[in-house]
Amino acid sequence: MKIVVGTREEIAKKAAARYEKLLNERPNAVLGFATGSTPLDLYGELINLNKAGRLSFAEVTSFNLDEYVGLDGTHDQSYRYFMNENLFNHVDIRKECTFVPSGLDVSDEKAAQYDEAIKAAGGIDVQLLGIGNNGHIGFNEPNTPFGSITHVVELTQNTREVNSRFFASIDEVPTHAVTMGIKTVMNAKSIILVALGKAKAPIIRETVLGEVTPKVPASVLQLHPEVEIYLDYEAASLL
Ligand code: GLP
Repeated sequence: MKIVVGTREEIAKKAAARYEKLLNERPNAVLGFATGSTPLDLYGELINLNKAGRLSFAEVTSFNLDEYVGLDGTHDQSYRYFMNENLFNHVDIRKECTFVPSGLDVSDEKAAQYDEAIKAAGGIDVQLLGIGNNGHIGFNEPNTPFGSITHVVELTQNTREVNSRFFASIDEVPTHAVTMGIKTVMNAKSIILVALGKAKAPIIRETVLGEVTPKVPASVLQLHPEVEIYLDYEAASLL
């Protein structure tokens, strides 16, 4: 694991530089994107680099980690909407080459086809991850098997409470989601995890220094050969 620590601004710039290098070497890269508040600074940097002509998404294919069940792409809390608003609408990516699991008409069988689509695209070159306070990656909650592929999950009460800040009330937070599995994430050739703020410090410590266990889904990253973890000083404060 390579760990990069800096201010919020510095780590967003450093992570963006990683994408600049990759996309200049491999313009048709397959990128795995994430949602949540954490990647917003990075997406802002990617938009700036795109506008400045320093990187292009014109040949990129992308796959997002997850989506809420029951929200279609026009719902302002759907992850499809988030990606359009915070990245895709502002860069030269071909929308038809951006994939987010569908939150409608879901089944495990349909979800598993997402893994097939990723394979057919050649596999993910760089998977971006945030991390939940309980160590979830995507929506893989504690005790998700490491062998899991894209599947339907029931969200924990903790995750629904944490994410309720984006909804009018907790009752509006979906109870289920579709998420890439742990194996789907681990199949990526390289992984970038970003964590910001003091609240993430304990789980970052467990992820990096703790036992590798399904109880802490992100701890599986210790087993991946190409992981970079970008932390602000607060998130890194317990390392
Ligand atoms: C959600 C997403 C995760 C994300 C997590 C942390 O549950 N499914 O992919 O990593 O929230 O969000 P934030 O970055 O806002 O802390």
